[in-house]
Amino acid sequence: MCGIVGYIGSKSAENVLISGLRRLEYRGYDSCGIATIHDGKFAVSKTTKRIDDLESNLKEDVSTIGIGHTRWATHGAATIANAHPHVSNSEKFIVVHNGIIENYVALKELLKEKGFQFYSDTDTEVIPNLIEMNYDGDLLKAVKKTTDMLEGSFALGILDKDDSSTLVATRRNSPLIIGVGEGENFIASDFSAIVKYTNQIDILENDQFAVLKKDEVDFYDNDLKEYHLESQRVDISDEDIEKNGYSHYMLKEIHENTSTIKNTLDHYISGDQICFDLQLSEEELENIQQIHIVACGTATHAGLNGKNIIEKLARIPVNVVAASEFRYQNPILSPNDLVIFISQSGETADTIASIELVKERGVKFLSIVNVPNSTIDRMSENVLFTKAGPEIAVASTKAYVAQVCVLDLFAIFLADKLHRADRRFLQELLDELKNIHTKVEMVLEEDDQYLAYAKKIVGDKDIFYLGRGVDYYTAQEGSLKLKEISYIHSEAMQLGELKHGSIALMEKGIHTIVLCTEESLVGKVISNIKEIKARDAEVLLVSNLNITEEVYDDMIHLPAVNELLSPIVAVIPLQLIAYHVAVLKNLDVDKPRNLAKSVTVE
Ligand code: M6R
Repeated sequence: MCGIVGYIGSKSAENVLISGLRRLEYRGYDSCGIATIHDGKFAVSKTTKRIDDLESNLKEDVSTIGIGHTRWATHGAATIANAHPHVSNSEKFIVVHNGIIENYVALKELLKEKGFQFYSDTDTEVIPNLIEMNYDGDLLKAVKKTTDMLEGSFALGILDKDDSSTLVATRRNSPLIIGVGEGENFIASDFSAIVKYTNQIDILENDQFAVLKKDEVDFYDNDLKEYHLESQRVDISDEDIEKNGYSHYMLKEIHENTSTIKNTLDHYISGDQICFDLQLSEEELENIQQIHIVACGTATHAGLNGKNIIEKLARIPVNVVAASEFRYQNPILSPNDLVIFISQSGETADTIASIELVKERGVKFLSIVNVPNSTIDRMSENVLFTKAGPEIAVASTKAYVAQVCVLDLFAIFLADKLHRADRRFLQELLDELKNIHTKVEMVLEEDDQYLAYAKKIVGDKDIFYLGRGVDYYTAQEGSLKLKEISYIHSEAMQLGELKHGSIALMEKGIHTIVLCTEESLVGKVISNIKEIKARDAEVLLVSNLNITEEVYDDMIHLPAVNELLSPIVAVIPLQLIAYHVAVLKNLDVDKPRNLAKSVTVE
């Protein structure tokens, strides 16, 4: 989604903004722009091309204050006129905005009646004009009056051309942080935009305002009362968000699966104990009637894996729902339920809205989050962090694996606490989990095989991922990975459902990827493979089981692991196959079309 960076200090604002926008590219964008103040005027530059184009169009490095934006079009096409920053009619105020102004049509009418004119199709353009309408010599008050009129979500960076010593920022339901430096300060929608310059941040809450000067930042609440905000240190370095020699972030992140697993498990395992710092009493845990897992996209697939292992080990029913559905479903929640939210970014709009709903109902919840200090982290009393580090590629890989690991730990923890499984068995499972990164390492080493298979399917129009039980969940994740970065239509299907309809699609030239990691289902899977083969479609079998009958066309042998943990290893070849197909098609692997890394609007 859109990205914001802003700067005030002594450096070249143009350089800081361009470097910040480059760091935000991964979020997905279709136009970008910056505005600086020079000689009492705004210098504005915009493009519908890439940041490189924006940089090459810049004149000189002349300013020390500015705001920049990457836009992911919502209201109006990706054109120069619609690109941010947006300026007020008299060109006194300029604004960058993330989010959606839901009442912009009414506000536009109001402004038109007062004689304001509009040059873009955006919802954003009302904001600088409202500030202009509300201005009586005090920018902060004008911004506050303006935000009182806005409905929807926004993170804003605002400049006044007549005051090159002030940058104003505010937010509601869209993330924005303040970076604090020595003699310089920053705003950013995402920490990665400013990590090169500072590790100290302040986090703005909804309807709070920040007034940034070169040497200080003042914070105001919604009544414009000044308050003190303690800066926090973020332990991420610029190196963590470099490609470090890999051709793409996605490839780097797939290879980081091993360290991610280790870091995540080490964080929670001490000796033979799983240590979760949760505000949930023994009694509350014992009384859980049902668990609901709520998330979006890949995080939902991790949730499905959680359902499998929690139900099998702890014998508690688990209902997995997409957050975009949950929030409108008037969900049936009882006081003894537990809701688990999963989000890599911690900023996904549907997941946040679902948390608000659960909070209103007073139901217990915990969140599995990768980004510390993100909105979901701050909204949640109980947080289990995945230790995947920054994930830059739009396609989630290592964060998914980390989410599955945390859910595996949670299932073992719960089963142990509730005495629902044999303690020795749980200990063996935990020991195996502690070692699973070595199995993942083995799978990563077989990359030539995945590349060879990618070459086979690169020209396909449709691919089918099939599995039974937990393998169907992994199939769903493999299918999503392929479609989002290679633009090949792919579908995941339950193998057992094939003959209830989808087998009609099986014919010569069709490639299917069949997963099989559950011992008790091998016979059934083999029969299904034969049915596919009888229709002349081809099968790649991905399995760690001893399948002697050569019913398949190709096979990826996975190392043996307990079937409860198999999703962690089984997904790795699928991530790499998707990656190779996208590279072979010469596509923008890390920033696939139409997609954004974190979906901060509905
Ligand atoms: O940041 P979140 O985990 O909340 O994001 C959820 C989905 O938007 C995300 O997993 C999306 O499906 C990815 N593009 C998948 O690769």
